[in-house]
Amino acid sequence: MTKCDVAHSYRAAGVSELLPIAVLVSGTGTNLQALLDTVHGREAEIVAVASSVAGAPALERAAAAGVPTAVFARAQHRDRSARDEALAGWLQERGARAVVLAGYMELLGEPFLARFPGAVINVHPSLLPAFPGLRAIEQALAYGVKVFGVTVHFVDAGVDSGPVILQRAVELPQARAPEEVLAALRPLEHALLAQAVRLLARGALRADPENPRRTILDRQAVRAGEG
Ligand code: GRF
Repeated sequence: MTKCDVAHSYRAAGVSELLPIAVLVSGTGTNLQALLDTVHGREAEIVAVASSVAGAPALERAAAAGVPTAVFARAQHRDRSARDEALAGWLQERGARAVVLAGYMELLGEPFLARFPGAVINVHPSLLPAFPGLRAIEQALAYGVKVFGVTVHFVDAGVDSGPVILQRAVELPQARAPEEVLAALRPLEHALLAQAVRLLARGALRADPENPRRTILDRQAVRAGEG
């Protein structure tokens, strides 16, 4: 299945106009909250929230919105692939057709990704391919950059290495503290992640046949998804 087929095939089945998505979290959950406040019940339905960390505040946000939650901690499973399999099974039982990583601090293997082809996306607080992995904002500050930013991308089995969907930059030439950068990036993350989910739900994303690293966005859907 190609990237754009996820929403199309779902709509073709005539089940619902809302794309059923799962959100994976590990922490605070402000990106989850942004999705609950914007796309949930409109373009998409969040049918499951899974955390890698028991007691993550994101779980309370999901519960408050009436979304089923579960914890899949690595220590509870034989290894990462057993964890991935249990996680994918639960998400599919809940009906999820796409998966959004919103501050999820674990890697996902190929078998998990193959269960949701072209339909796993992540938000990362840097302009990829600069500063992948943990502590991206601290990495950028240490490097001395003047322009920071946010990337939403498809997930592959690497570390923040899948094709870019959306990016937005902000100039912060005087920035010194991670908190200051984070405060500037938060609203960008929340807006971009919601926009990417809308595009996915509308079937407006496809890989460029000339270069599958490049994601082509349907222009009309981009304009409509900016709201
Ligand atoms: C965000 O900065 C996101 O870009 C990164 O992890 C953080 C999660 O924040 N992947 P929150 O839990 O959504 O508040």
